[in-house]
Amino acid sequence: MADGSSETKSSNQMWGGRFASGPDAIMEEINASIGFDKKLYAQDIRGSIAHATMLAHQGIISTEDKDKIVHGLNTILSEIESGAFEFSRRLEDIHMNVEARLATLIGPAAGRLHTARSRNDQVALDFRLWVKEELQKTEKALTALIAAFLDRAEEHADTVMPGFTHLQTAQPVTFGHHCMAYVEMFGRDRSRVRHAIEHMDESPIGAAALAGTGFPIDRHMTAKALGFREPTRNSIDTVSDRDFALEFLSIASIAATHLSRLAEEIVIWSTPQFGFIRLSDAFSTGSSIMPQKKNPDAAELVRAKTGRINGSLVALLTVMKGLPLAYSKDMQEDKEQVFDAAESLELAIAAMTGMVRDMTVRADRMKAAAGSGYSTATDLADWLVREAGLPFRDAHHVTGRAVALAEQKGCDLAGLSLEELQSINPAITDKVFDVLTVEASVASRTSFGGTAPAEVRKQIAWWRASN
Ligand code: ARG
Repeated sequence: MADGSSETKSSNQMWGGRFASGPDAIMEEINASIGFDKKLYAQDIRGSIAHATMLAHQGIISTEDKDKIVHGLNTILSEIESGAFEFSRRLEDIHMNVEARLATLIGPAAGRLHTARSRNDQVALDFRLWVKEELQKTEKALTALIAAFLDRAEEHADTVMPGFTHLQTAQPVTFGHHCMAYVEMFGRDRSRVRHAIEHMDESPIGAAALAGTGFPIDRHMTAKALGFREPTRNSIDTVSDRDFALEFLSIASIAATHLSRLAEEIVIWSTPQFGFIRLSDAFSTGSSIMPQKKNPDAAELVRAKTGRINGSLVALLTVMKGLPLAYSKDMQEDKEQVFDAAESLELAIAAMTGMVRDMTVRADRMKAAAGSGYSTATDLADWLVREAGLPFRDAHHVTGRAVALAEQKGCDLAGLSLEELQSINPAITDKVFDVLTVEASVASRTSFGGTAPAEVRKQIAWWRASN
């Protein structure tokens, strides 16, 4: 495993198993990041090309050397992409792997590439570029999920379902309105993504080890070449900072939390007891023993991925919290957390978009459930306030008695006779029956942001215009 281990072989018998060859093997294993940071190869090469081009432009290296460097780097890029490149763990990380190969390919000119930079600003650059691209992908994925919800909301702007608080039937709402709640949530996630892209849009390269450099570099030029708005302003902060990774993980955690709540609702809605939706075969599985079952596995896994993503946020916060400025090797532990969270989030959003688009909405079941549980009780109370002039607290009390009577008779509120209602409060007239249906209830909720179908259609139109 570890080459050159013979001279370090020790009589210390503490190392065993895979570390049998001695301390150098342990060091290589704990120190190397190539196993995961090879993912940054494209960003590393792009950054080096921009850096070399700037060095030549500033007269720090010759144009001839720059041309060799750029040519060599492009060769390495195609070697990596074709799978021909041999990564070496002895060379620690992606930066040293690329540089060592460059030396083999172009000779001494390769040694000039690292002028006026350090691996500290190099890794900050590569990782920032990677996270920025990932956020751009996340923005697209969220837009697709929002679009799926907008379509379902439009289709079901009039579909009545029970609205819940404490998971107890509260008031009738529409399924379209419920879908639009998720549009708001994922819309906020997307706006957090956009803000994070703005925050991190500064180029770290040229901060060097931590203090900047005496070479006459042009950091504005590299920033522009790499698609950043401007260079970072403080070289110490630049190599110490992993806020962009923490912001990515925070955004991912909040989005995953939203996805998990949706997953939980899908699991509940698809039970035979609720039966509000049927998942497509594509996003569910059968049971190996119980033929009647259709399990919402994809939703359950989305719910579970939230644990990993939240875990990554806590892991990196914990890595960063005790670090003195500037760079410390602890920061190498940033990448796996972000890579893992990014992969989980991408998959979870894609799975949810598919589930939302494909699920069958069972409007009949939703409507039946909406009418049970005395869901129009608030409508009766509101009617007593509006039409009979009762203070709301008194109306609440009268309604409570009506619910108790209906319960006793085994019917819903609309099933009580006028005489029965009048026995509770004589001011009640037969007009009250107009508000006791679920359709009348939702249609009456016309306040801004409310559940009335006309209002939900306005919300949909607003999102379509701003999407
Ligand atoms: N592999 C390192 C990391 O991911 C690169 C930076 C190394 N810098 C250093 N001074 N050793 O953080």
